[in-house]
Parts: sequence; structure tokens; C-alpha cells
Amino acid sequence: MAHPSANSKQSPPRHSVFRTKSIEQAIQDTEEPEHRLRRDLSAFDLTVFGVGVLIGTGIFVLTGTAAKNNGGPAVALSFVVAGIVCACAALCYAEFASTIPVAGSAYTFSYASLGELPAWIIGWDLVLELALAAAVVAVGWSGYAVSLLDTMGLHLPASIAGGTEHSWGFNLPAALLVVVITLVVMRGIKLTSTVTTVIVAIKSAVVLATVVVGLFYVRSANYHPFIPPARPTPSSSGLKAALIQVITGFTPTSFGVMGIFFAAAVVFFAYIGFDVVSTAAEETRNPKRDLPIGIIASLAICTVAYVAVTLVVTGMQKYTRLSETAPLADAFKAVGQDWMATLISIGVVFGLASVVMILILGQSRVFFAMSRDRLLPEAFSKVHPRYRTPYRTTALLGTVVAVVAGVIPLQALAELVNIGTLFAFVVVSIGVIVLRRTRPDLPRSFRAPWVPVLPIISTVFCLWLMLNLPTETWIRFLVWMAAGFVVYFAYGHRRSRIADR
Ligand code: ALA
Repeated sequence: MAHPSANSKQSPPRHSVFRTKSIEQAIQDTEEPEHRLRRDLSAFDLTVFGVGVLIGTGIFVLTGTAAKNNGGPAVALSFVVAGIVCACAALCYAEFASTIPVAGSAYTFSYASLGELPAWIIGWDLVLELALAAAVVAVGWSGYAVSLLDTMGLHLPASIAGGTEHSWGFNLPAALLVVVITLVVMRGIKLTSTVTTVIVAIKSAVVLATVVVGLFYVRSANYHPFIPPARPTPSSSGLKAALIQVITGFTPTSFGVMGIFFAAAVVFFAYIGFDVVSTAAEETRNPKRDLPIGIIASLAICTVAYVAVTLVVTGMQKYTRLSETAPLADAFKAVGQDWMATLISIGVVFGLASVVMILILGQSRVFFAMSRDRLLPEAFSKVHPRYRTPYRTTALLGTVVAVVAGVIPLQALAELVNIGTLFAFVVVSIGVIVLRRTRPDLPRSFRAPWVPVLPIISTVFCLWLMLNLPTETWIRFLVWMAAGFVVYFAYGHRRSRIADR
């Protein structure tokens, strides 16, 4: 049912780039037969999705880099800091998801609160975040998979295994992984959820084993100093320097209390993905209740797991000696427990596969929502008559991600994922404040506490982490966004569905 008074008073003119889509309309669109997805997911499934997409490269790989170069053992506190930032954003996501249970996550939320252009921008940003994250993690996965195959005596030639440091090679394992996952996601939400549940069970068992077995090898001497003394970091300059450094000219330090915050910007990657849970809104049986549970529970579980793993690993091996590529496995090797190292590698191979899967799932739902609104060609929003998945979108994006993962060595682009996600968090946080003012009448089955203070804190934290990212990342991000503006004015603005209404 529409709320004419609320909308007519507040909606900008029909041709404005700030025209909003009413929430009632957004919900109604989800019921159209050719756009209706299958509602199969419960709060438990969503929590599993959240854990499935969160635990990945961040904890299995970046912990080493962050502890060794930025935080020392106090990197456990960096996980707490990043977790708090994400919790503020997660509460905002939970409120939106319980109010507007429509696929598309931040894109849909912005369309209802801030207007079409901001929504488009955020959708464009999410496509970058999720596609790039899927490709980056797939490439990371292939590194682990190839080395596991090696230990089993199966040696892939470098030309099809991503090349070497000096030569390019097609990354066949990464591309194949993406293709298989895309087929699973196209086949149906129930199958995707079942596969994710199995993988998450394996991954959780490995994380638990890491903590429990690792505890026996913790030596308190490794925690001294817990916060290593600060020292200047001379290495980054020019485009590699953090934007905040370029703007203010201050010299960054590693370690010390500030080091904890710098490391938080690095390990933030470990938290990327909880927002993806909200893209499954139209596939959830009781979204208003289950989405907030799924988002908040998965974030809480993973924060506890991250802090526990980090404390154990930095207690097992002096932070200066941690490996930057496989810190968990190598910490066990260092104490002579090679079997645990193998177990962890197996866990990583499974674990990263589910990260890629949920990222592809989320990305296809955002793209689907955008094309249903005709900001992208509408043909992509057609749902498969039997599987009730947006199969065309999924196939298109899966192919793009497979090619990108196969061809481009991506690690340099990983920070683009962080900036894209943080930007989405900022927009969603502001959106919560705006929607409370423009549509106070809407039933909100979950309300974020302390609005507007909490969203403001979330916005400031996220902006601060963004400023800590390298200038070159900002430039790449702005170039992508500029391309988004061009596409919007050349296509979406004229064809948008609400322009017709
Ligand atoms: N959070 C996910 C990971 O750490 C993206 O791999």
C-alpha cells in the first residue's frame, strides 16, 4: 500500500536524479512473477552465509602481514577495532534490511532514502566491490589449491597456474573455480545454501582446531611487547602513500597505538561480506526478522573467532617471524605440527571457495535489482522459470569474474575492495538517518540503537579507514565512479522504471 502523503511531499520531481523509489513499490516489484525469487532461507542459513563469506583471506592470510608490519600481537585489538566499525554499520544494515526486505542491499536502501543517482552510484560501487573481491579471493584460492596439489604430487605448469613472479600465466584453477561456483549459484538458492553449510562446517572445524591445538603452543614471551613501540614507516611515498598522509603531510608510524588502527584498515578485509547477507532478502522466508539476526550473528561469531585465532597465532610465533602468505599454517610448522599445517591448508581451500560463492551470489542480486529497476538492461532481471534464480545476471557476472581472475594478477587491486565496501557503509549509515526523517511511519522490525549518533560514528570511522588507504586506490576508485556517472546519464537516467511511473 502506498503512502501518498509521505511520498508526494518528499519525493523530488520525476526527472530529478534524486527521485526516490517508494518502499511500497520496491516491495511490490519483488512479487512480479517474472522477477520473483524462491524464498527458502532461514535465519540459520543467513548466519551460515555470513560466516561463509567472512572467514577467508582476511584471517588466513592478512593476519600475518598486519601483525608483522603494523600491529604486532596487538593486531588482535585491530580486529576488535575493525569489528566495532563493522558492528556500527551492521546495525544500520540490519535496520534497513528489516524495513526494506528487497534484494540489492545498499543499492536498494539508497534508492529508497537518498535517491536514484546515489543508489546507482552505490550499486555501481557494489558491483566493483563484489566482483573484484570474488576475483581476488579466487586467485588467492588458486595459490593454496596449486600448492596442495603440489604436495600430492600433481604439478600444474606455471603457464596455466597463474604464472610465476617473472612470467604471466593463465590462472586456470581460479577461472575453473568461478565457473563451477557460478553454475551452483544459477542452479538454485537451496543448493547454494547446502553447499555453503557443508563448507562452513569444515571451515569452522579448522578454525576451532587452530585455536584449541594452538593454545598448547602459546608462549607468553611471544606477547612481549604486546604493543611494540612505534617507529616511522619510511617506505610509502607518492601514490602509494595513504591519502591522509598526502593531505596532512604527517609521517605514518608502524606499531604503537596508531599501528593498531593502521592494521585495522588492513584486516578490515576479513569483515567484508556481512553486508552481502542483506542481498538475500527476497530469498528469505521471514526477512524482517531473519536478516538482522543473520547479519549481526555472523559478524559477532566471526569477530570472536578472529580475535581468538590472532591471539593464538601471535602467541605461538613471535610476530616478527610470522609468515606473510600462510601465517596460520606456518606457525604450526614452526612448532613441528605439520599435520595441522596441512589441515589448515585444506580448510583454506574449502573456506575460500565459499567466500567466492557468496560474493558471486550477492553481486548477482545487486545487479538483478538494478536491472529490474531498468538502470541496467532489463533482460538481465529475468528469473529462471524452474530454479527461480536471476540466472542471466549470474551467468554474465560469473563469466566476467572468471575471465578477470584467470587473466589479471589482482593482489594490487585488493584495496579497491576495501574502499568500495567502506563507501557503501557510509552511504547506508547516512541513509538510516535520512529514512528515519523522511519515513518515520514505516514499520521497522529492527531499529538500530542510538540513531543518529551510531550512524554518525559509523560514517566517521569508515571515512577514517578510507583515508588510510593509498592515494592510488582512491584514484582507481574515482575513475570507476566517473565511469559509473557516464553510464547512468547515457542509459539508466532515461530508462529508469520510476521515470515511467
Ligand atoms: N571477508 C572475506 C575474506 O576475508 C572477503 O576473504
